Amino acid sequence: MSVTIKPATGAQYSRIHGVGGYRPTRVIPNSEVLNWIDSSDEWIRTRSGIAERRWAGPQETVAEMSVQAAGKAVAMAGIRPEQIGGVIVATVSHLKQTPAIATEIAQRLGCGTAPAFDISAACAGFGYGLGLADGMVRGGSAEYVLVIGVERLSDLTDVTDRSTAFIFGDGAGAAIVGPSETPGIGKVIWGSDGSQSEVISQTQAWDTAFAKPDAVNGAGEETKWPALRMEGQTVFRWAVYDMAKVAEQALEAAGITADQLGAFIPHQANMRIIDAMVKKLDLPPNVPVARDIAETGNTSAASIPLAMERMLERGEAKSGDLALIIGFGAGLVYAAAVVTLP
Ligand SMILES: CC(C)(COP(=O)(O)OP(=O)(O)OC[C@H]1O[C@@H](n2cnc3c(N)ncnc32)[C@H](O)[C@@H]1OP(=O)(O)O)[C@@H](O)C(=O)NCCC(=O)NCCS
Repeated sequence: MSVTIKPATGAQYSRIHGVGGYRPTRVIPNSEVLNWIDSSDEWIRTRSGIAERRWAGPQETVAEMSVQAAGKAVAMAGIRPEQIGGVIVATVSHLKQTPAIATEIAQRLGCGTAPAFDISAACAGFGYGLGLADGMVRGGSAEYVLVIGVERLSDLTDVTDRSTAFIFGDGAGAAIVGPSETPGIGKVIWGSDGSQSEVISQTQAWDTAFAKPDAVNGAGEETKWPALRMEGQTVFRWAVYDMAKVAEQALEAAGITADQLGAFIPHQANMRIIDAMVKKLDLPPNVPVARDIAETGNTSAASIPLAMERMLERGEAKSGDLALIIGFGAGLVYAAAVVTLP
């Protein structure tokens, strides 16, 4: 007689039950960036759409910002932390390799012994986390999953680099994914292109940076702290042309047309990329578009949940509306989906 394994059974559908964000208190206007690089407020605004960004202070650690954002998401979802059966933290700027920061966050929130782990999917991190959480809830390995996107990109910013010094910001955004009677998360269209892994990348690995200076840089040269570098124009073209197609696939997979959307929440990489995507998608003018980048800069994994929270707070989109989200960045990686707003 063959013996079969009893499979896990989960909810038929999942949805986002709550969202929350944390924005550091220190505001860095473009005028401050001009102390570091030769640029102008006008150039930064017209090329990137950024007017100011937030940078974290010493107390605003990756864990602290995450706990603050997650607390708001838990409250909005109306659940108890012990109901959370999984904590996924998407980040590329938690500077301690091990352990994962997710376990500390889970413990501080009161999530008991929930499995907790970090993922590295840069600006697609929130979408990757959402895809995993949806699978966990429907697969029966968790009732509720907490997905956090959090970055302290200021720690990895070279303030003397004209092509990146004005772009990055810090912050955290969180969402609670849980069971639903109706479909609330469409098929996540995600992928990667490792042939372009150098297009956005850390300048050097930590072992190279901290090797004996005379062995690496030549005697007498100072060890340089690693930072993020990118080929701006290559990223720009990829984001506009290839990512619009990914967004269209997410709409198609969800059986939705652009005019049925209540919000478009793309990764806040650059206002010109957002504008170009809106055009390529032929988005009707009445669909509200997240433009949080103006005040927040590019916060990588945190940008989509932060923008989502802000749109709901300001009444630009409302609970129950359908939103198209798309994240893309270093890897290169991407993830898009249609979701019902909490
Ligand atoms: C970074 C980015 C804003 C730069 O804009 P760009 O138009 O590509 O800029 P270029 O590097 O081609 O430089 C154009 C001109 O601006 C100048 N320039 C570059 N950086 C500048 C700065 N910070 N301030 C003022 N001028 C600057 C250059 O010197 C060049 O001048 P020139 O025409 O006299 O030679 C743009 O490439 C971009 O947004 N890329 C996508 C980046 C992104 O979103 N990344 C996140 C992905 S997750």
